[in-house]
Amino acid sequence: MNSSPVKGMGHSMMDRNEAQNQIQALRKALAAANDAYYKHGHSPITDQEYDSQYRLLADLESRFPEWMVTDSPAQSVGSDLTVGFRKIEHRFPMLSIQNTYSEAEVADWHRQVIEKLDPTQLSELEFVVELKIDGVALSLVYEDRRLQYAVTRGDGLVGDEVTRNVKTIQSIPIKLPKSFPSGRFEVRGEVYMTRENFRLFNEYSQENSGKTMQNPRNTASGSLKLKNPEETALRKLDFFAYNILTEGSEGTHWDNLEALVQAGFPVNSERAKVKSIPEVMDVCARWHSLRDQLPYNIDGAVVKVNSLRQQVLLGRTAKSPKWVIAYKYKAEAVETVLESVSFQVGRTGAVTPVAHLSPILLGGTLVKRATLHNFDEIERLGLKLHDHVIVEKGGEIIPKVVSVVLEKRPARAEAIAIPERCPVCDSELAKMDDVVALRCENLQCPAQVTRSILHFVGRQAMNIENVGPALVDALLGQGMIKSFPDLYSVRREDLERMDRMGEKSAQNVVDAIAQSKSRGLDRVLFGMGIRFIGKTSSTLLARNFKSMEALRNATLEQLQGVNEIGDRMAESLVNYFRSPVAREIIDKLEQADVDLTYTAADGTAELTGKTFVLTGTLPTWSREDAKERIERAGGKTSDSVSKKTSFVLAGEAAGSKLEKAIKLGVPVISEDDLKKMLGLA
Ligand code: IVH
Repeated sequence: MNSSPVKGMGHSMMDRNEAQNQIQALRKALAAANDAYYKHGHSPITDQEYDSQYRLLADLESRFPEWMVTDSPAQSVGSDLTVGFRKIEHRFPMLSIQNTYSEAEVADWHRQVIEKLDPTQLSELEFVVELKIDGVALSLVYEDRRLQYAVTRGDGLVGDEVTRNVKTIQSIPIKLPKSFPSGRFEVRGEVYMTRENFRLFNEYSQENSGKTMQNPRNTASGSLKLKNPEETALRKLDFFAYNILTEGSEGTHWDNLEALVQAGFPVNSERAKVKSIPEVMDVCARWHSLRDQLPYNIDGAVVKVNSLRQQVLLGRTAKSPKWVIAYKYKAEAVETVLESVSFQVGRTGAVTPVAHLSPILLGGTLVKRATLHNFDEIERLGLKLHDHVIVEKGGEIIPKVVSVVLEKRPARAEAIAIPERCPVCDSELAKMDDVVALRCENLQCPAQVTRSILHFVGRQAMNIENVGPALVDALLGQGMIKSFPDLYSVRREDLERMDRMGEKSAQNVVDAIAQSKSRGLDRVLFGMGIRFIGKTSSTLLARNFKSMEALRNATLEQLQGVNEIGDRMAESLVNYFRSPVAREIIDKLEQADVDLTYTAADGTAELTGKTFVLTGTLPTWSREDAKERIERAGGKTSDSVSKKTSFVLAGEAAGSKLEKAIKLGVPVISEDDLKKMLGLA
């Protein structure tokens, strides 16, 4: 592979100096890959490249032990530790698993297992095969049947505490049933994102910030490390439990999985218990063909010795237990030719390169395009026009160009010119983020205008159902609108004159546009598509400033004073409101009678800034349930009533807190009232 730092490997005669050079090159490459993945959620090389470089390094280190160091990437688990998170030590280290892509190595592993176990125990030797979910490992610690904290793998010994974010994952139980023992124990599993949720989130993210995420796994790992749990909730993460850690070593892994199901944990239903390696391989092959039909990504199967007693006997190496091996599936890859590269202009003006390929079948679909992410990627790949390229379908929706077949480079191969002018409006492009990305700054650029109108009418913004891409193009084409506020001056008579537009449809469009006028400030603000201002920040700003007028007049300091509004957002807002374009947009919206104020309580769960005190027994929810729900919706709970308390939630046999609430004039609500506030009743 052309991006491998090791060239000409495979010669068995190698002197010490050569080995040292290669070891150093491999360590550097792997450390960089670990860093990029764990700290920035980005994988600069494919999993397969990583695995093969890793193996080379491990092999060289064992052949040349004089060059071994303990912090070599081949001797330690990569680290996801991030500044700003509380560190928690794992009671049992979170190890990784030995990986292989070869059946023969699974058989080798099996032999080693047999050799280590007493011959009398072999009759009870069984294996559990599970899917290897392509996500991020997570440890959940429970005490008294309640989730105490959730911790990432970190460096394997110490992890980052991410409980607040993990609590937004609906499938993770916060409380366990009474039938479960109340002692302290730990559940481990994989946080993942379905391909569909990844697609939706990426669409949203592209619209919102012009950024696209690489794949579901990186998105899941980044989502656990967000500062704002509301943002994590938007990503709609999921979880599969695959292990439970207790003190004893009785019983089997299979029964433990069943116990996890009983306790309400999501456990993957594709699991098999078998006795031999041929059976293991059968299961692996079956799942391999199932791969594309699963709603989430897997990167292989995990084979585990079933008996916990045997697991203990087998022990571990510094890095991984010996009772488990992962059989990984090779990513599907095909070779084709890069015909051309085009440049797309997003709503925010970001210009991204797209590869156009000679059409080729990959994983059952005909592939014509592949993403190139950014200009750095073109450089990293050393990609030229007309090159033969390897295209792979990883977790991404659009396939990815992973490498160039240099041996086949044709004489007519030519460099890919980085555009200096916008491919749509021809205005000069600006460099942003250290040249990785280019941006068209012409707000009137047709590419941006169309996309910004589509953003404004989008479901998350003004939700104007009858206005889609075709109509927007037609309206722009006929000069009936120039930007989104003009939608409000489109008349039925004008629409009726358009092709394929009946009286009824024209009326529907006009009605849908008119209805959107009352959506409120938060949606208008989001719809305006101000740089760095996403859905959550729009709501926060609307809630804080209540009217467009107040927001427009806010100073930088006032904006920065809003919780969760960072400097970059505050600056972007000030710049935006200063521009004549913004003035014109707001004037037009005002003239059209679009509601530019914010009124809370629109039926959605929104309790931020509210403090609740709970007292008495509630009819259906436990106090913990109620607390949890309030907190998930952004509210706070407290133990004592004061003038600052927003509501007292009172159930049966409420005591002195209720009396105090009445005395202080704090509103008293019932469980039903709370359900209504949460949009549940
Ligand atoms: S068992 C010490 N089971 O794969 C072994 N891991 O590459 C504990 N993974 O760190 C892990 N699906 O994050 C296990 N069914 C499964 C898994 C699984 C995904 C992940 C896990 C692990 C990584 C190793």
